[in-house]
Amino acid sequence: MAILIGDTAPDFELDSTEGPIHFYDYIEGHWAVLFSHPKNFTPVCTTELGYTAKLKPEFDKRDVKVLGLSVDKLEDHAAWASDIAETQGTALNFPLLADTKGEVARKYDMIHPNADNTLTVRSVFVIGPDKKVKLKIEYPASTGRNFDEVIRVIDSLQLTAKHQVATPVNWKNGEDVIIAGSVNNEAAKLKYPEGWKEPKPYLRIVPQPRG
Ligand code: BEZ
Repeated sequence: MAILIGDTAPDFELDSTEGPIHFYDYIEGHWAVLFSHPKNFTPVCTTELGYTAKLKPEFDKRDVKVLGLSVDKLEDHAAWASDIAETQGTALNFPLLADTKGEVARKYDMIHPNADNTLTVRSVFVIGPDKKVKLKIEYPASTGRNFDEVIRVIDSLQLTAKHQVATPVNWKNGEDVIIAGSVNNEAAKLKYPEGWKEPKPYLRIVPQPRG
């Protein structure tokens, strides 16, 4: 059965470039990004892994553990890591999981047989500290992902987990947000004594809450 938003992310144990990883222990109490790439020593994957390594300080700031996964062997991961450092200017600084039997890839539906029978597509799962799936995105092998977008969604997820708000189209951290429909006007007045913009009764806009 497919893993959907709101489901508990399945646990697993796998070898990685940073040693054996028990997923639940590794992410305990943190946010996590688990993403698959189709194959080592391929161009798009090389650029994605290098860019994700560059973003590591941004993930750290948000208390997010990052894990990459493919069905390649651990030895291949290690050899490829030096190519990533050489061509992308940033060395791998997060674990790459070696799912050689494809067990985790199948658990997370990262293999789409009508796209490729053995290789993973480009899946991204954002998992909350409660181990629930908060975001799931899938790209084909030929299209590199936008990891800035992954950070943007994490900002939204972390904000909306804390405050009863939602974030509008193309929202970026610091911009105005929408008061959640679950907050009635009486409760909203207590939270936002300065008021809000209300172009429609269901569209109530306030500055992004801080803290
Ligand atoms: C790539 O990363 O460039 C790639 C990987 C697998 C299939 C096609 C492209």
